[in-house]
Amino acid sequence: MNKVAVIGAGSMGRQIAVHCAIKGLKASLYDMSGEVLSKAQQFSDEYLESRVQKNRLTREESDRARSRLEISSSVEECVSGATVVIEAIIEDFSLKAELFGKLGALCPPPTILASNSSNIVSSRLARVTQGPERVINLHFFNPVLAMDLVEVALHPEVSPEVEHAALKFCREIGRTSVVVRKEVPGFIVNRIFRALTREAMNLLEGGYASAEDIDLAVTRGLGHPMGPFYLMDVAGVDVSYLARLDEYQETGNEASKPNQILEQLYREGRWGKKVGHGFYEYPDADSGGKA
Ligand SMILES: NC(=O)c1ccc[n+]([C@@H]2O[C@H](COP(=O)([O-])OP(=O)(O)OC[C@H]3O[C@@H](n4cnc5c(N)ncnc54)[C@H](O)[C@@H]3O)[C@@H](O)[C@H]2O)c1
Repeated sequence: MNKVAVIGAGSMGRQIAVHCAIKGLKASLYDMSGEVLSKAQQFSDEYLESRVQKNRLTREESDRARSRLEISSSVEECVSGATVVIEAIIEDFSLKAELFGKLGALCPPPTILASNSSNIVSSRLARVTQGPERVINLHFFNPVLAMDLVEVALHPEVSPEVEHAALKFCREIGRTSVVVRKEVPGFIVNRIFRALTREAMNLLEGGYASAEDIDLAVTRGLGHPMGPFYLMDVAGVDVSYLARLDEYQETGNEASKPNQILEQLYREGRWGKKVGHGFYEYPDADSGGKA
């Protein structure tokens, strides 16, 4: 494994690329926005410097990681010579499908073409890609630089060689992987998270307890590090709402329908910590920034 290409340099893509560079891979990063790419470069420089200041990396290791990270000015340049391509663009199926069509033509097999989507299963993208057996989900968690898990989600056409190579890639970048053998939107973690948040919102809507007390019960009674309402605020109320809506529209399953309170917060722009209001108020939040 020598080069990973990451398309989309937003909050996830930039972290995936920096992490891979720290772990010894050549990493190239592309985004359609030049401004986002400049911010990603700045993020990388500041993060690597902070690791040196905290004695987590030596100056030499940090310099080597910096030299392995390349900012690309086109998709073509970014994916050239890559053995793994990870798509981390916005959660919009038609944009992702268009990109996978292009990647299929640009990248010869056995290059792995992976999506970091939180919800869109890879068979939907494999349908529009040359060589569907190499299209998979590699689902990282935010913040990528701290969260150990990667969900490797397969569809029936994925070849055993691609599965093997994907798991090897996760080991190379020092991440624990779990295999989702049968496709399901939301994979494992987000499905369990959604079940938990759905019940938490049912209790709140039914007037059984306050958001504060439900969060307290889940942290103290179940030992979770954060309660469901605070966690939705941190991850983004918009992200939770849109993922639930997409699943509901795909399956027609009434249980997937977003709770009324979630829809209301979404429509009012109360998208969580990043905007200063969600289930809770965050008076000190940098309004409009990322959580
Ligand atoms: N944010 C999270 O907590 C999280 C966690 C796991 C997975 N994901 C998934 O990761 C993906 C990215 O999420 P994010 O939070 O980093 O989004 P983001 O909005 O921060 O970044 C997306 C980037 O994609 C770029 N982009 C859009 N279309 C493009 C194209 N055609 N070519 C190149 N660049 C393009 C945008 O300019 C933007 O910079 C989504 O599919 C999301 O579901 C997000």
